[in-house]
Amino acid sequence: MSYGTPLKNTHRAVVLELANADPDHSILYLDDDTAGATIFFREHGVSTKRLAPVNYSRDACTDITRITKVSAICGDMNEVVVSRHENGDRYSFVWLDLQCRTITRETLTASLGMAPYVGLTLSTRGVPSATVIKDALRIIRLSGGVCPEDPTRYRGKNGITNVVRFLIMAKSKPTSVAKSCTTLTLPQPRTKPLTKTVDLPSPPTPTADAFVGTVLYIPTSEWTNKKELATWSTDIKEKRGKLCFRVVGTHYHKKLALRAIMKNNRMNTTKEHWTLTPTMADKYRIV
Ligand SMILES: C[S@@+](CC[C@H](N)C(=O)[O-])C[C@H]1O[C@@H](n2cnc3c(N)ncnc32)[C@H](O)[C@@H]1O
Repeated sequence: MSYGTPLKNTHRAVVLELANADPDHSILYLDDDTAGATIFFREHGVSTKRLAPVNYSRDACTDITRITKVSAICGDMNEVVVSRHENGDRYSFVWLDLQCRTITRETLTASLGMAPYVGLTLSTRGVPSATVIKDALRIIRLSGGVCPEDPTRYRGKNGITNVVRFLIMAKSKPTSVAKSCTTLTLPQPRTKPLTKTVDLPSPPTPTADAFVGTVLYIPTSEWTNKKELATWSTDIKEKRGKLCFRVVGTHYHKKLALRAIMKNNRMNTTKEHWTLTPTMADKYRIV
């Protein structure tokens, strides 16, 4: 089914415009078997290496590649986004052009953690659009996002107004960028020295809720019982001597609940029996 309507092109144009503000990074987006978005981006000068279309159907991916010569990522967008975020990837735009009614906080947190802008489209089919919008705005807020414009309701391909789109920006910088910026670049010294010494306040530690979805890298040296550690940690993903965990929730909005990320990149089925405070977690955000 083609989505090649003028209205759809206005959405693609918004993605294109914002993505081009960061031309060194690719666009991660859903496309379908007609490759409408990929064709549009190519026709507007985006190089193939900046295009990362996704679809969960192998056939649709084959079609996208056959039509456009752009290789498509076959998989569930939610999983693609989370695993790419864990890898520290960075995009100019993540376009979650979905057809479902809700978005998970995990997907949105990961998307906002690796791109300055995220586009989200949801269906309001069969439910009041106000409910879908209210729910999505709550999840956007909890994921650390803000909407620079009101959500737009528009007609789907059947002519009925049952689709809503959101443009979302990360409140703070994407975490993957923050990761690579652990040392601050100080401004050039002034020619005239400052006459006053200014004490800059240290940034506040984020609240527990702000950590949900974040991957933490905890050095194995933090565990005193090395023998016990060796028995339970063998299948946990490790990076530079640090074990990988994802914050999956909070206890009374104060402490963080975690699940281990396993070597196959899947999350452990059970939560860890210990928790962390936001202050401790803050130390473990950098691999
Ligand atoms: C709305 S279309 C994308 C349209 C495209 N952005 C364009 O401008 O023409 C969404 C496509 O992604 C597929 N899809 C929906 N949810 C998905 C998900 N979670 N993961 C992967 N593919 C998905 C749908 O089957 C459909 O083929």
